[in-house]
Parts: sequence; structure tokens; C-alpha cells
Amino acid sequence: MRMHSFAHKQVMRFLVTGATGFIGGHLVERLVSEGHVVTALVRSVAKATRLRELGVTLLRGDLSIFADNDLVLDEVDVVVHLAGVVTAYDPAEYEAINFTAVVDLMRCLQRQSWSPRRLLFASSLAAAGSNPPRRPWTETDPVVPMEPYGKAKARAEVALRETGFPVTCFRPPLVFGPGDPAFLSLFKPASHGLGLRVAGPPQRLSWVYVDDLVTAVLAMANDERDGSYTYFTTSEDTMDTDRLWNALRAAFRRSIFVLPAPGPLLWMAATVSSAVAPRLGLRNQLDQKQVAQMRAPRFECTSAAISQDLGWSAHVTFEEAIRRTAEGYRALGWL
Ligand SMILES: NC(=O)c1ccc[n+]([C@@H]2O[C@H](COP(=O)([O-])OP(=O)(O)OC[C@H]3O[C@@H](n4cnc5c(N)ncnc54)[C@H](OP(=O)(O)O)[C@@H]3O)[C@@H](O)[C@H]2O)c1
Repeated sequence: MRMHSFAHKQVMRFLVTGATGFIGGHLVERLVSEGHVVTALVRSVAKATRLRELGVTLLRGDLSIFADNDLVLDEVDVVVHLAGVVTAYDPAEYEAINFTAVVDLMRCLQRQSWSPRRLLFASSLAAAGSNPPRRPWTETDPVVPMEPYGKAKARAEVALRETGFPVTCFRPPLVFGPGDPAFLSLFKPASHGLGLRVAGPPQRLSWVYVDDLVTAVLAMANDERDGSYTYFTTSEDTMDTDRLWNALRAAFRRSIFVLPAPGPLLWMAATVSSAVAPRLGLRNQLDQKQVAQMRAPRFECTSAAISQDLGWSAHVTFEEAIRRTAEGYRALGWL
């Protein structure tokens, strides 16, 4: 395999979807700071203030624009497709956005008079599922996604094998870092000394700090090989839920009481939440996806393949990542 050095950097044109989201925001900051030219798909101009400050070109609309047969896109070198639904209004939304819209984007790119050098697709460890083998997932293991989110991501990966131009599907595990709205629901009560975990043995989890993931995206964007690839993009420093609470205690320099919630109680709460949230027009914050993920004994993968092929590995330790995330929330006034 050919190795690609980060030192050999060239200015590239990027089209980024999901740039107003958590990972997308961090990615675009890095791309612009390294001199790359960025166009971002944006459905809410109000959320794009920072992108405009950074000099990003805005492509107005949501993912449905890619289903328009007449859409002509300006040529770019790399497309990074991050837009996706992490917390859905209902399970059908995972299929519509995390699968159908990905196929629409692929077909739209195929219709253009140019082809990107590479399309990067943000899949997920959830596309593989929780671990039956007594070892971390590798890319050659057959996938067994266990809930609608992971199933849609896995189907999108399969559809992307038909593109005709190089694609890299990357599967992050839990991603967190400053500005992540999802982890705030953990950090906020923790900052007041309260936590909740699923009763039973601690869950083993892969994770990656957002800055390390952004570095991985750049490594994949710089990949000049012709083929298509799938990579887990994880820290090798697997954590467990006991370590998580200890890291939060250290970050907040306080004791945290962690209440163990029995699994069946969580299922009941998810059933009620799934029935009530759509009626109130709210995003369902506790659906079967979350509960299935919370109850699985382990979600563990290895980044050995991307390390070997592209020389990427994560550097930030877990405790440091938690500390930086808490600091980031404080700086934003979220805690
Ligand atoms: N965070 C994680 O732990 C994690 C782990 C594995 C994989 N991933 C994947 O990584 C990607 C980014 O995750 P994230 O944490 O950054 O998510 P996020 O903060 O929720 O951001 C999602 C982004 O997608 C955009 N989006 C959603 N639906 C759209 C639509 N119909 N049309 C146009 N844009 C749409 C959102 O736009 P608005 O700002 O307008 O809402 C936002 O920019 C997702 O595909 C996710 O599945 C995330």
C-alpha cells in the first residue's frame, strides 16, 4: 500500500454537507485554516453565520436538491457528505436522510460533467453494530446493524459501491468535543453531580475526539489512490462507562452520583418518548436506537487499517478529550 504524507498538502476544493453541524463545523474551520476552498450545503442561513465569516461559499437548500435532475454543481475535488440524522423524529427519517438522500447525492454527482477525486461518506460504527466477537470490529467483518440508524448507514455504504469514482466510507464511533450538542445532555447533569447509566457491567466503547476525526477526514481527502475504501476512524484507547464517569469527575473536580437505570425501564421510557415526541413535533431524544446502543455490551472497533494505509491515528487521550470538551462548553456558556 502506498503511504500518503500530510506534509504533502495541496489546496483543494471541497463540497461539504452537514457543515452547520457539530463535526462539519470543526471540519470547515480546519479546511479553511489550511487554505482549502469550501462550498457548503446549507439549509438554514441563520446557522451559517460562522461559515460566511470564514469565506465559505453557500449552496442553499437541503439534501432534496440532489434529487433534481437539472442541478448543476460547480466542480470540486472532494465531496464530504456529513449531513445526516443522528436523532430522528421517527425511524423513517433515518431511511430517508441516511440512505435515500445519500443515493440521491451519488446520482447527482454521477450526472455532472466532472467527477470528484473522492467522495467521503460519514457512516458510523452503528453500521457494523455491537460486537459479537471478543475483539474489536475490523472492516472485513460482515456488518450486523441493530437499529434503523445503523441499518440505513450500512445500506448507504453498499449503494456507494456503484459510484464509478473513488469513495471512502468512514465509520466513526462516538464522536465528541467542544460544541457537541449531543454530549451536553451528559455533561450538564454531570456538572451538577448527577449521572445515569444502564444497570449492569460497564459498557466498553470506542470513541474519537473531534479534532482527531477531522485530521482523519483530511488524510482520506488526500488519498490519491483510485479505489474505494471503508475505514473505522477511532481512538485505540477504548474506554468503558466507569472510566467515563471518572473522567467527568476529574474534569468537573467534583463527585458525581451515577444512578443505574434498569434496561427494561429504558425501553419503556423510549416507547413513551417515541409515541409522544412526534405528536408534539419534537425530535425524539430517547428512541430504540439510543436504548439499543446503551444496552449493547460493547461497541468497539480498531483503526488499524487506516493507520496502515494512510498513516492516521488518534492522539488525544480520553481524559484530555473530556477535559477539553468541558472547557469548550464553559467557553460557549453552555454549562
Ligand atoms: N456525532 C457522532 O457521534 C457521530 C458518530 C458516527 C457518525 N456520525 C455521523 O457524522 C455525521 C455528522 O454528525 P454530527 O454529529 O455533526 O451531526 P449534527 O451535529 O446533528 O449535524 C448534522 C448536519 O446534517 C445536516 N442535515 C441534516 N438533515 C439534513 C437535510 N435533510 N438536508 C441538509 N442538511 C441536513 C444538519 O443541518 P442543520 O444544521 O440545518 O440541522 C447538520 O448540518 C452524520 O452523518 C452522523 O450520522 C456522527
